[in-house]
Amino acid sequence: MTQTEDKTLLSTEDTPLVPIEKIVSLCKRRGYVYPNSEIYGGVSGIYDFGPLGVELRNNIRRYWWWSMVQLNDNVVGIEGNIITHPRVWEASGHVENFVDRLVDCKNCKRRFRVDHLPAENLEQNKCPVCGGELTEPRTFNLMMETYIGVVEGERMKTYLRGEACQNIYLDYDNVQKSSRMQIPFGICQIGKAFRNEVTPGNFLFRQREFEQWDLQFFVHPSEMQKWFDFWKEYRFEWYKGIINHKDRLRFRAHAPDELAHYAKQAFDIEYRSFIGWQEWEGIHWRQDWDLSRHSQFSGQDLSYTDPETKERYIPWIVETSGGVDRTFLYLLLDAYEEEPPSGKDKEGRTVLHLHPWLAPVKVAVLPLQRNKEELVSTAKSIHNRLKRLMVADYDDVASIGRRYRRQDEIGTPFCVTVDFKTLEDQTVTIRERDGMTQIRLAINELPGYLLEKVMWR
Ligand code: GAP
Repeated sequence: MTQTEDKTLLSTEDTPLVPIEKIVSLCKRRGYVYPNSEIYGGVSGIYDFGPLGVELRNNIRRYWWWSMVQLNDNVVGIEGNIITHPRVWEASGHVENFVDRLVDCKNCKRRFRVDHLPAENLEQNKCPVCGGELTEPRTFNLMMETYIGVVEGERMKTYLRGEACQNIYLDYDNVQKSSRMQIPFGICQIGKAFRNEVTPGNFLFRQREFEQWDLQFFVHPSEMQKWFDFWKEYRFEWYKGIINHKDRLRFRAHAPDELAHYAKQAFDIEYRSFIGWQEWEGIHWRQDWDLSRHSQFSGQDLSYTDPETKERYIPWIVETSGGVDRTFLYLLLDAYEEEPPSGKDKEGRTVLHLHPWLAPVKVAVLPLQRNKEELVSTAKSIHNRLKRLMVADYDDVASIGRRYRRQDEIGTPFCVTVDFKTLEDQTVTIRERDGMTQIRLAINELPGYLLEKVMWR
């Protein structure tokens, strides 16, 4: 299995951590993310994605799918439904165990998750903000309820899935048989999950509706450690390949008292941002918890028979589970930079150093002047050609410097400028976002040049 070839990004020196307000403001101003139902006052922990946001999300998802499913011969994909039989969530342990313990401050009325409280506040029963007395912990289940059916009394209560991966266990047997996969093999999925988070916040970091990507890798128990180590490294390298600040990535092992009910061991891949070191993706040693529980609750035998040795066993599972939204947020935080004025740019600029593979717009085509018909028509014809191959912008409003800055701020890696020399020799200027370097290239060579830069491989 190979993942990717060299994916060296620009090397940036460590810069100060970006305050979240800058990202929230850029996201709204430039069409990445909007508060959901904003005209009604919004809903906490729920967001919508704008024109640039949806492009970035699609690129993030496609790149994950490409590296997990397409590159690995022993991994296949599914797309399961959000709503399942309610027994699924009893078997999974979520009805019983998927809970947060909360305390309220009797004085300032703030609410805290017990597992997020500093140890001394917990011991002294003291609010970390105002020092007021805290209430006794109360337990809340995070599952979102819904109902199937229309007739009162006959409606069946079920749940919007609290973790997307449950579909993979439900479909495990069908996938194994229909695609003739032999253990070890994996099943991937990207899909929405819903949690009634009691303390949503930090923008996209903790939402109530979000999207997860999962690999569930089924192994013989004797090979669990080997595959756990393999996928742990694979996923770490994956994240390292798409960020600039490599030193902001690390592993953290879960202490026994913070392990989820399904995990015997877990490591988080963490990223350092305005909220400190926090989880980006979880690597979980789920062992036989899921298939054993679903066998027990459904009455279906989910064991596997080795075709050669005829040994029969419940496969053990390595899980790698991350979030599209958290990746979206961390990529923006990692990519954002306010550059002071310099020799190359007298006014200074805001840049998103997004990897060209993931940037929502790959290229912008800019005629030097909008009142010169030949410049405009040549630029439009280049744009028409490029937009069939990649997401391409056309912009002829304002000075060329301002147009470059607009593209820098949304992370467009290349700008193509059509100028008077173009009309003489059919060449254009290509300006690269990060170094602001410029080269000249024949129009006919443009598509090949750009594809080489923006397509992952
Ligand atoms: N199936 C395992 C599982 O769900 P998790 O650590 O609870 O594990 C996996 O979630 C990933 O989903 C996290 O690493 C994070 O990226 C994302 N995630 C979890 N809760 C989230 C939330 N409330 N908002 C946004 N992303 C979330």
